[in-house]
Amino acid sequence: MASYYAMALLCMLAFSISGATALDDNVLQTTLYIKQSFAQDQRSGGTDIAIINWPIKDGPGAAANTIGHAEGLTTQADPAKKPFWVTIMDMVFEDGSLAGSSLEVMGLHSSKNVNNGQGQWSVMGGTGELTMARGIINYNITQEDSASRTFELCIFVYYTPLEGIMALGDIGRKP
Ligand SMILES: *[C@@H]1O[C@H](CO)[C@@H](O)[C@H](O)[C@H]1NC(C)=O
Repeated sequence: MASYYAMALLCMLAFSISGATALDDNVLQTTLYIKQSFAQDQRSGGTDIAIINWPIKDGPGAAANTIGHAEGLTTQADPAKKPFWVTIMDMVFEDGSLAGSSLEVMGLHSSKNVNNGQGQWSVMGGTGELTMARGIINYNITQEDSASRTFELCIFVYYTPLEGIMALGDIGRKP
């Protein structure tokens, strides 16, 4: 009898926990490009640190539109792993269908000749339409020379728009 009640209680608990944390998940799956120009759109922030403002493009070529900027910094944190940069950036969208939103992104990259120029960055948050964003960016360095580097970004992100959770006026409301 006691174990029956314990099980019933556990079931109720499981139900209420999953009910309370269910998010209205949306998926953003898109391919975008970042153009890194070493003498432009970035400046030194000290030894092994560059402050970045890389344009985000909607295509790989010169004719592509700039739809935002990757703002943040990139640093060679581990001297033993010298060709690797860790980048911490806010991908701010200013034009196109994502205008007004942003993604918070972090991860390592090297050059085209390391790991075939491929790797992953994690997406840990977002704003605007992309609130509660979490996911992954698989990147491929598709172009690199002494002046620039182009990243192709395959973005896969779950997000929950703010209006699905609460209105701005509800913040601070007493339970
Ligand atoms: C990465 O980019 C290079 C250069 O454009 C291309 O040859 C290669 O197929 C790409 N790899 C993937 C997995 O997309």
